[in-house]
Order: sequence, then C-alpha cells, then structure tokens
Amino acid sequence: MLGASGGIGAALVEALATSGDFAKIYAGSRSGFEPSRLKVESLNFNLADESTLAAAADRIGAEGPLDLILVATGLLHRGTHIRPEKSYRELDAEVMAEIFSVNTIGPAIAAKYFLPLLHPRRRSVIAFLSARVGSIGDNRLGGWHSYRASKAALNALVRCFSIETRVRNRDAIAVALHPGTVDTSLSMPFQRNVPAGQLFSAEQGAAHLLDLIDGLTPAHSGGFFAWNGDPIIY
Ligand SMILES: NC(=O)c1ccc[n+]([C@@H]2O[C@H](COP(=O)([O-])OP(=O)(O)OC[C@H]3O[C@@H](n4cnc5c(N)ncnc54)[C@H](OP(=O)(O)O)[C@@H]3O)[C@@H](O)[C@H]2O)c1
Repeated sequence: MLGASGGIGAALVEALATSGDFAKIYAGSRSGFEPSRLKVESLNFNLADESTLAAAADRIGAEGPLDLILVATGLLHRGTHIRPEKSYRELDAEVMAEIFSVNTIGPAIAAKYFLPLLHPRRRSVIAFLSARVGSIGDNRLGGWHSYRASKAALNALVRCFSIETRVRNRDAIAVALHPGTVDTSLSMPFQRNVPAGQLFSAEQGAAHLLDLIDGLTPAHSGGFFAWNGDPIIY
C-alpha cells in the first residue's frame, strides 16, 4: 500500500488489517506511518525519489510475491500555490510538473519496481487511485486542467501495465479506480457542492474500494472503474 498517510490510504490500511485476509501489510508513506496493528509494517518512500521506490520494493520483494498492491497517493492542491486551474490562463509549468510528478510519473516509477512483485501464478491485483475527472470522454465542465490531465495519463499507463502483466500472468489485474468523493484533506475545499449522501467517509470509501477489488476478474484488467463498479469511459 503506497500512500498510507493519506485519508483514503490510512483507511485502506486499517480495513486490510482488520479483514484478516492478509498475513502482512506494508504501509508505505513519505511522512511516516505509525502502525497500530501487529501485521502492519511501515515502509518509507518518496514518489519523487526513484531510489526510495527501488529500496522499498527490494525490502518487500525479499519476503515473497504480493497478492495486492494499492497506490493511493495523489495531489490536487497544496497551500496557496497549487490549486486546480479554472482556465488555461492559470496554467503554470512548475505547478503542472509537480502535479504530474505525484499523480503520473511517481505511480509509473512505483509500477516499474512493484509490478514484478505481483504474484506470478495466481490472481493478483494492482490498483491505482485515479479520479473520474481524469476521464477525457466525460469532461463536460473543463477546468482542473493539470489534475485531469495527470489522471488521464495515469489511466493510459495503467492500460499499458495491464497488457504487460497479462503476458506474465493471465490472472494478474491492473486497474484505475475512482473512489467517489471522500472526506479527506484532498477533497475538503471542494465539498460544498457535493450532493447529500455522496460524500463518503474515508472508512466508507475504503470499504467500497476493497469490495470492488474483491469482485475484479482478469477480464476487468486495464479498466477504469468507479467505487460502485461502474466502468468509466476513458
Ligand atoms: N478524496 C477524494 O474525494 C478523491 C476523489 C477522487 C480521487 N481521489 C484520489 O484518491 C487518492 C487518495 O486521495 P486522498 O483523498 O486520500 O488524498 P490525501 O489525503 O491528500 O492523501 C494523499 C497521499 O498522497 C501522498 N503523497 C503526496 N505526494 C507524495 C510524494 N511525493 N511521495 C509519496 N507520497 C506522496 C500523501 O503523503 P504525505 O502525507 O507524505 O503528503 C498522502 O499519503 C488520490 O490519488 C486522489 O487523487 C480522491
């Protein structure tokens, strides 16, 4: 699990730990994660530093193949400098580079080191948290240029990963998932217009995602799905 310090990531670690389905869970974060459960081990990495991803994968790989890899990192806003754009006039190369670094390039480099750790012979899943706004076909409002584009590019990469992993193991599954609107610091400034009943707690968001992942088959690999299992158009 990469992104264990995030709102959704922390809830995913907790849900995985209580599920009893996994012998060990690696909770990967940049800022450090205090495991509250015995079978959870903390793992440090920074998406912007390839050597930390290589070292994290090395450490885990030494203990055997993985059944599930979750990438729950992401960046939408930070401070007053990084904000979703309302118009192309607001585009800023440095902000775009930072958003792409966290949402697209970092997860891609993580895949470079973690995909080989997926179990080679049985059903195994790698799921990347994307966002519905990354759908090109579904974009009717515009805005949020960098975040949308970074997630669209992530979705394109996930499709590539699904094709390559299938060659090694027909039961491997690589997907991009939209968690819905989940009450975390990422969505906080944008929650005002969310219709009643459509803002999930982090615990609900994690439960939806794990239910969805449970139901995935190799036929779903390469797809982009919403929290309730509905496919999202690329
Ligand atoms: N919340 C929603 O409503 C919503 C909706 C659609 C999609 N999503 C997607 O769901 C995912 C999780 O979102 P969230 O709401 O849980 O966000 P969040 O609470 O802001 O968590 C973001 C996570 O990304 C990590 N991260 C950022 N930059 C990093 C870096 N350079 N290296 C390593 N980790 C880094 C953060 O680590 P630090 O603690 O070290 O900063 C944190 O663990 C994201 O991909 C987001 O785009 C969320």
